[in-house]
Amino acid sequence: MSTNLPVTPNDLSAFWMPFTSNRQFKKAPRMFVAAKDMHYTTTDGRQVLDGTSGLWCCNAGHCRPKIVEAIQQQAAELDYAPAFQMGHPKAFELANRLVDIAPAGLNHVLFTNSGSESVETALKVALAYHRVKGEGSRTRLIGRERGYHGVNFGGISVGGIVTNRKMFGTLLAGVDHMPHTHNLAKNAYSKGVPEYGTELADELERIVTLHDASTIAAVIVEPVAGSTGVLIPPQGYLQRLRDITKKHGILLIFDEVITGFGRLGTPFASDYFGVTPDMIVCAKGLTNGVIPMGAVLVTSDIHDAFMQGPEHVIEFFHGYTYSGNPIASAAGLATLETYREEGLLTRGAEMAPYFEAALHSLKGERHVIDIRNIGLVGAIELEPIAGAPTKRAFAAFVKAFETGLLIRTTGDIIALSPPLIIEKHQIDTIVDTLRSILKALD
Ligand SMILES: Cc1ncc(COP(=O)(O)O)c(C=O)c1O
Repeated sequence: MSTNLPVTPNDLSAFWMPFTSNRQFKKAPRMFVAAKDMHYTTTDGRQVLDGTSGLWCCNAGHCRPKIVEAIQQQAAELDYAPAFQMGHPKAFELANRLVDIAPAGLNHVLFTNSGSESVETALKVALAYHRVKGEGSRTRLIGRERGYHGVNFGGISVGGIVTNRKMFGTLLAGVDHMPHTHNLAKNAYSKGVPEYGTELADELERIVTLHDASTIAAVIVEPVAGSTGVLIPPQGYLQRLRDITKKHGILLIFDEVITGFGRLGTPFASDYFGVTPDMIVCAKGLTNGVIPMGAVLVTSDIHDAFMQGPEHVIEFFHGYTYSGNPIASAAGLATLETYREEGLLTRGAEMAPYFEAALHSLKGERHVIDIRNIGLVGAIELEPIAGAPTKRAFAAFVKAFETGLLIRTTGDIIALSPPLIIEKHQIDTIVDTLRSILKALD
């Protein structure tokens, strides 16, 4: 086809990349062109061991046959069906399969396209729930310092990462924050759940006393804070949050975008900690990261509160064009089937002791000030370079990529969350590579 349209040169400038130092990246790009199981392939044909499940999402590893086939078939059979006032069977089937693996009582599912949208959806459900119950004064939302709940306005309002908030004005009104639970002085080098800090949950009582329970709709936390650098809740902390929220009629939302789908060695972190919230927010591992999709699981109490009034009226004015999209639903079903066939939702529990011992063997290496782990997630915190925070960990990230290992860094923390199919010798490779990088790091 001949056309006189101008052609933009095929360079890197047009794509404004997310959460990336664009100018630096475009001077020395790092690109993947293929992936299989535990490895990526770079443009120059190198294999890179995936220490982070992509972005905490490819829990079953890469290009898994069942998921690939399901997407291919679905695209050829039913590409799209309207999400409003129409349906298609796979979205219903996926909702049921999700309820099957969810903690008891979380019986209904709203679909979204990302973790961020799931967070917004959950916050809106919380506000609307209290209103349909006749408690419309409950409008406050409580998050936590250092929390990450995606990038939309509700999520950054309840979130507690300064860089993600400070550029964007006054955010949502009526939001308060509990303190984060990270305490290097007392908990450094904890294996699994740290000992100190349960009482930090009592800060919620202080906030309730300040605002009065009748003004508070919901509390949202990540059971294990991931993006801020893997902060594991102190013993008994989540249970105490559950007790306080229940006592005051406040909904508890667990943001399990990272912890969902086997990351801790249980289907959800709620199972790991034995604490059931009123809603679970998830995404990422729901489709093995392959097709964008998120979900919010809610209790029957919440769902049923909306199912009132004339039946021709829409019960909840919320949804996305792609809620329960057929191809995403097919990917989700094939993903859950892969997890089931290979026992991946609990495999993390088997591998966790080996992972823990390997990771903690890095204690004493240069710059390391903490190592922490739970299930198949871990973090190595480095002493920042004075006056140049993040630089040291980022240098480790680049070096790791060059050496054939994908890690994730946030601040001066190296985070690891390998696919749940990882084998012991691959854990050794991760740790050996990190050891040599740390030895050579400025
Ligand atoms: C706990 C948590 N919530 C929400 C999100 C946002 O998900 P997404 O990037 O799919 O919008 C993330 C992403 O890392 C997350 O870790």
